[in-house]
Amino acid sequence: MTRASVRNTRHAAHLDALEHAYADILASHGYDAVLLYSGQAHTFFADDQQASFAPFGHFLHWVPQPGIQHSWLRIRPGDAPLLRFHAPKDFWHLAPEPPTAAWTHRFAIEPTPETGPPATGGGRVALLGEVEPSLARELGAELNPPALLAALDELRLRKSAYEIDRLRDANRLALAGHRAARDAFEAGGAELDIQLAYLAASRQRESDVPYQNIVGLNAHGGVLHYQHYDLEPPARQLSLLVDAGRRDAGYCADITRTWAGRDADPRFAALIEAVTQLQQSLIDAIAPGVAFPDLHRRMHEQLGELLVDQGLVCCSAAAAVERGMTRAFCPHGLGHSLGLQVHDVGGRRDAKGRYLPPPRQDPALRLTRTLETGMVVTVEPGLYGIPMLLEPLRDTSAGRDIAWDAVASLYEHGGIRIEDNVAVTETGADNLTRET
Ligand code: GLY
Ligand code: MN
Ligand code: MN
Repeated sequence: MTRASVRNTRHAAHLDALEHAYADILASHGYDAVLLYSGQAHTFFADDQQASFAPFGHFLHWVPQPGIQHSWLRIRPGDAPLLRFHAPKDFWHLAPEPPTAAWTHRFAIEPTPETGPPATGGGRVALLGEVEPSLARELGAELNPPALLAALDELRLRKSAYEIDRLRDANRLALAGHRAARDAFEAGGAELDIQLAYLAASRQRESDVPYQNIVGLNAHGGVLHYQHYDLEPPARQLSLLVDAGRRDAGYCADITRTWAGRDADPRFAALIEAVTQLQQSLIDAIAPGVAFPDLHRRMHEQLGELLVDQGLVCCSAAAAVERGMTRAFCPHGLGHSLGLQVHDVGGRRDAKGRYLPPPRQDPALRLTRTLETGMVVTVEPGLYGIPMLLEPLRDTSAGRDIAWDAVASLYEHGGIRIEDNVAVTETGADNLTRET
């Protein structure tokens, strides 16, 4: 079979499964139909310019067309899904063409210059999406009922073979960007040069990225969501942290790499290697039935060992965890669910929709569930020199066990994060980031 026919076959199976699952969920929640609104770009206040746009995830789950605005999908079990496709008559912009790919054959497609919803078809109807409550009232529909949304979020958590292919392709494209980013760094580029090299090699414009790329040289690597691109390179080239992705048919890659620069402290290259090994050993432990918070705890235990081995602390690994030292070096969670959103839905609920809070000492952990076949998660341990978190330890008993000269060097180098995207298989893990 050709690549295109595999894609079409898997996409058809994905849509078959969606039709069945929606029919079951709508029946069990007592709805006859659901309307999904794609959404529309927001206009800045008192301006005529628009922010970049991503369609509603539940709409994209059916319609693999990123960027689609002012459009509607009606799912009424027993009828073909109705796509009311916004096709304005417009000479200012290139008018969107109604899709014609293989998947469209099972849809009823209604191109329209209007932006309003289709007829509901009667009965009890839910309307999901970002719309004015008055529109739902006019239609006699219930707007964003939480129980139905939670059930549909749950459906997005386990990925079909088609979705895993898209995440794999997104990874392939993002990795080309990461290679170019490293080359631009080695050529002495500034943060902006590295960002532009990444975008060019991953073939995307900046408004299409799944999240704002993090490109941090030196100490900027220790700012977890660093948001600028300096125009000039620093005088000394110590380190680069790049956390950057790519979408494929809406599905997101989320990859981080860290590199030592020509002026780096040799201890920093050793730390990168140690974090990479730690990350790979955590991926080896991924399998159905593993509770993600347990894996997160294991990350801290291994970080404790790493801090001891690398001479950053001089207490036991267990004491480094117990006294909060590993959390001062790594304040974020091990990872999160990945899909049509970079921090995908359903990560903090159980299969019945009940809230699963993060552990008290790990409020940033975004995935608190037990892993199941078909889930796709990121695995992204980090180790940072963040003065705001480490300096308060200086005058404590934990501070007496920290090698502050090594920490001073880490402050200058910012930090390390290594992030891969991993599908949970029946027997273990399929690392979507490492195979090319
Ligand atoms: N890029 C954001 C994250 O890694 O979660
Ligand atoms: Mn990331
Ligand atoms: Mn991530």
